[in-house]
Amino acid sequence: MSAFHLNKQSNVVIIGFMGTGKSSSGEMLASRMGRKFVDTDKLIEEREGMRINTIFAEKGEDYFRDLETKTVAELSEKRRLVISTGGGIVKRHENMELLKKNGIVICLTADIDTILMRTEKKGERPVLDREDTGDRRSAIEKLIDERKELYEQADYSVDTSDRSPLEINEEILQILRRVGIVGA
Ligand code: S3P
Repeated sequence: MSAFHLNKQSNVVIIGFMGTGKSSSGEMLASRMGRKFVDTDKLIEEREGMRINTIFAEKGEDYFRDLETKTVAELSEKRRLVISTGGGIVKRHENMELLKKNGIVICLTADIDTILMRTEKKGERPVLDREDTGDRRSAIEKLIDERKELYEQADYSVDTSDRSPLEINEEILQILRRVGIVGA
């Protein structure tokens, strides 16, 4: 990856499948870096005054994806943010182009057991619930399989399975030092 456009003003963007710890890692990273943290799902929920699940149920996925792209377009104009995204942000190539414009994109990954454990609860993840016809593990595997190549658009990837939030943050910070977003 060419990192020539990255500097101390660049955004740090966290992508990855559901249950890989994007929000918690992003929030911790932002506080360690002294930066503002934005979570695209939370921002959409606040602005719509509705939970993601309700947006999907009442307005449909396309409506949500349009909001997601609008949010990404807005945030990609800003600087020095740590941005966590929803797991489906990779579904539109346009989103990735926007996010890379002023930022580095880091993909968090986790093994199936970890993801299964973190996404067990129904009624919070409409895309996974829709895919789950009784076997949640297969539903996760199918979605990961469909999206695998899309997550590979990230500049870097960090495995979060069996690792503490602090360890994950350290690895991300190492990457950020290497590309010059954080001072050595
Ligand atoms: C989605 C993931 C969710 C949320 C929405 C759609 C997806 O975010 O954006 O339910 O398509 O993978 P999390 O990855 O934070 O669960």
